[in-house]
Amino acid sequence: MSTTSPARRIERAVVTGAAGFIGSHLVDTLLRRGVTVLGIDRRTPQNNDAAAQNLRDALSEPAFRLASGDLVTDEPKRWLEGADAVFHLAGLPGVRPSWGDAFREYLACNVLATQRLMESAQSLRVPRLVLASSSSVYGETVGTGPLREDGVTAPRSPYGVTKLAAERLALAYALAPGSPTSVVALRYFTVYGPRQRPDMAIGRMLSAVVTGQPLVLYGDGRQRRDFTFVTDAVEATIAAAVAPATAEAVNVGGGDSVTVRQVLRHVADVTGKEVPVTADEEQAGDVRTTAADLSKARTLLAYRPSVALREGVERQWAWLSSRTG
Ligand code: NAD
Ligand code: UGA
Repeated sequence: MSTTSPARRIERAVVTGAAGFIGSHLVDTLLRRGVTVLGIDRRTPQNNDAAAQNLRDALSEPAFRLASGDLVTDEPKRWLEGADAVFHLAGLPGVRPSWGDAFREYLACNVLATQRLMESAQSLRVPRLVLASSSSVYGETVGTGPLREDGVTAPRSPYGVTKLAAERLALAYALAPGSPTSVVALRYFTVYGPRQRPDMAIGRMLSAVVTGQPLVLYGDGRQRRDFTFVTDAVEATIAAAVAPATAEAVNVGGGDSVTVRQVLRHVADVTGKEVPVTADEEQAGDVRTTAADLSKARTLLAYRPSVALREGVERQWAWLSSRTG
């Protein structure tokens, strides 16, 4: 069937969430590979310092343009004309802050924005949309072994519920009869590396070493995460733009599920200093374990994570050190 075939080669890409952690790395890699990129974000170098830092290199490239816009309120059509693929990474991330009043914003940025983007992508016959989904769609999985895409999805946080809703919505659009837009939803597992968001664990551990301000360790530190280095996540994302698919969800993990305590050890080894730590309770929404089964990613995306945790922590530390002097 030709209607859901992706472009063979991506020449023009749209990246939503381009000013963010993963989005800005994706932009940089696409530009290095000769792709013309339109980034969309509501954070811009003019209104946000992290956006300015993340996009510093990209903004000097003639093949890059940043559109300032909010996918919840602005009409996305104007940005999608002629795109070979849309990489939809915009969203409100973070598991623990998604309870309470914040949920309204999670719902808008993760679910409503995705629905509006899918409508526009279809009406402009964009052949492929790659969506940033999340390991948070699975929920609590202790004792089940590595998570497979055809397994149960029972999110434990409001954030996870919105990511699952966004994923299911995009796939429903792709499966509609005659849909011109195919979808690959990537379930990223806890991504880390340079430019990582300041609310996330590894960045906080490294910052705690620099400032001496303790990391607040939630729970007993024996919770496990399948930490994924950002360049591996980006490789999977680019492969997803051309993979043969109509509507698929695919895990993207780092290949190893480790405890937060083990990460603290790596950080101490890499930095030569113990991480100062203070204890707090286990947080609502956090699950005990994530571990990705990567069989589908290997088959569909030829994905092989190439950066082990120790090396990834070294690279994030080198980046932080270059900024803090
Ligand atoms: P990030 O916050 O650094 O980047 C997200 C970007 O989206 C931000 O620049 C933000 O301004 C933009 N954005 C949010 N709402 C918007 C809107 N309504 N209109 C326009 N722009 C909007 O987050 P990240 O860590 O780079 O995550 C990127 C995506 O990957 C998110 O969808 C997140 O849910 C998903 N994800 C991230 C991880 C991770 O470990 N970082 C893991 C799983 C899934
Ligand atoms: C991360 C992202 O923030 C989510 O957006 C994403 O969807 C999710 O990965 C995913 O894989 O789906 P999380 O796994 O909580 O969420 O990543 P971190 O914030 O790096 O936390 C990792 C572990 O460290 C968690 O168990 C958390 O409780 C713990 N942690 C985090 C602390 O003990 N202290 C902190 O200050 C931060």
